[in-house]
Amino acid sequence: MDFSVDRHLFVILGATGNLSFLKLLPSLYRVLMEKNLKDSCQVLGVGTKDLGDEGFRERAREALKNAGLSPEEISDWCDSCLHYQSLGKTSQGYSKLAERIKSLEADHKIPGNRIFYLALPPSLFPTAMEGIGESGLSQSPGWIRIVIEKPFGSDLSSSRELNSLARRYFDESQIFRIDHYLGKETVQNLLIFRFANTIFESLWNRDRIESMQITMAESIGIEERARYYDRAGALRDIVQNHLAQILSLTAMEAPAVFEADSIRDEKVKVLRSIPPIRMDDVVFAQYEKGQIKNKAVRSYREEPGVAPDSSTETFIAMKLEIDNWRWQGVPFYLRTGKRLPRRNTQIVVNFRHPPICIFKPHSSCQIQSNRLLITLQPDEGFHLFFDVKEPEEPLRLKTESLHFHYKDAFGPLSDAYQTLIHDILKGDQTLFVRADEVETSWELFTPLLEKDMPIFSYEAGTWGPKEADQLLKRDGRTWINP
Ligand code: BG6
Repeated sequence: MDFSVDRHLFVILGATGNLSFLKLLPSLYRVLMEKNLKDSCQVLGVGTKDLGDEGFRERAREALKNAGLSPEEISDWCDSCLHYQSLGKTSQGYSKLAERIKSLEADHKIPGNRIFYLALPPSLFPTAMEGIGESGLSQSPGWIRIVIEKPFGSDLSSSRELNSLARRYFDESQIFRIDHYLGKETVQNLLIFRFANTIFESLWNRDRIESMQITMAESIGIEERARYYDRAGALRDIVQNHLAQILSLTAMEAPAVFEADSIRDEKVKVLRSIPPIRMDDVVFAQYEKGQIKNKAVRSYREEPGVAPDSSTETFIAMKLEIDNWRWQGVPFYLRTGKRLPRRNTQIVVNFRHPPICIFKPHSSCQIQSNRLLITLQPDEGFHLFFDVKEPEEPLRLKTESLHFHYKDAFGPLSDAYQTLIHDILKGDQTLFVRADEVETSWELFTPLLEKDMPIFSYEAGTWGPKEADQLLKRDGRTWINP
């Protein structure tokens, strides 16, 4: 599909928050400069603070400088393209915003093309959508797009409500639900890896694969996000969105065409084929104090802003199955956690063992199954493990690997937000989550939130609680740690 970028107004709601200053403005700036789109975009920051254009520009300059951009480079853009509108505290906020938007569009000859980026806490999504819709801003002679950050809802019913509210004012083709994992080059590469390489695709099924593991590990704790995290927990923060997306891309069938809806149709089918997850197959846990990279770190309950008796999970391990022709009987083990030994996101594909070992009389016959390890971050690439004969007698087998590292082939990769922002400007929805995907994912995971899950504990700096190891041990397997 061919996408071009028309003149438009990029409206950031929540413009004075962390997401806006740390991610959006630097990524937007880089996209506009790299793609030569500077003249097509005016930015309107919207917030409750009373800043004025100059106050906002000042803070944006600081943020862009901190993101590594030189002051000379950015100053012209900040002065000529950034604007600010305070919503104030009264109900008039959105009608004033509507006036401001129309006046900016007239001044800059923008034909009503608008992007509304909700860089807001999730609890404010409904108010913002209603504000935009009721003030008539979702109607214009140009195109309208609304961008909504994750988490989209906090369970099945809230995600349905949010979707129906969004549909009151916007068409699905105007709604861009962000999951920043989809903007990562390596996550997108899963499709190329699978569907452009017959050697892997022909093995990608229950006949050749005996199990899969997907791990998203972080060494950081919850930083300054206790207010959000203590209510969300790992299931809402990571599993329902990032892990569900990686799982869908790993397990989906080939789409009929490489287009947004075709791809999303196949992804949602994966989620629909997963039978209800059994409580016995899930481990929730929370970190205790420990050491990470030789530095002592506090327990979750001691983090500032966390309730001292909090039972929020910071770690989840689970086993699920996909009941379709390709995957029936192949377990998928998913795991995520904060305060694990290091940051790493990986997919481990364990191939089946050879049916018999013909080397037995000569060697101990510890044949390792072939394994493919796809690292999504930080050392993006893959490793394919296979056995070779060690030279000389007696006969001994040794596991070696073939590898590919993105950085060797292409140098550093661009930030996920840059990719996603460019797609929003172009109107390409391939890397955004459709309403039915979000709801199907919530359908799968909400029952776990409704159960009284026991919370185990693990020492910070370890790979999680022993119960997570037992989950695999009971199936005769172990986690492959990065
Ligand atoms: C965010 C979560 O969506 O993803 C955070 O809210 C998490 O808790 C972050 O730290 C991880 O993203 P990345 O790109 O660093 O793996």
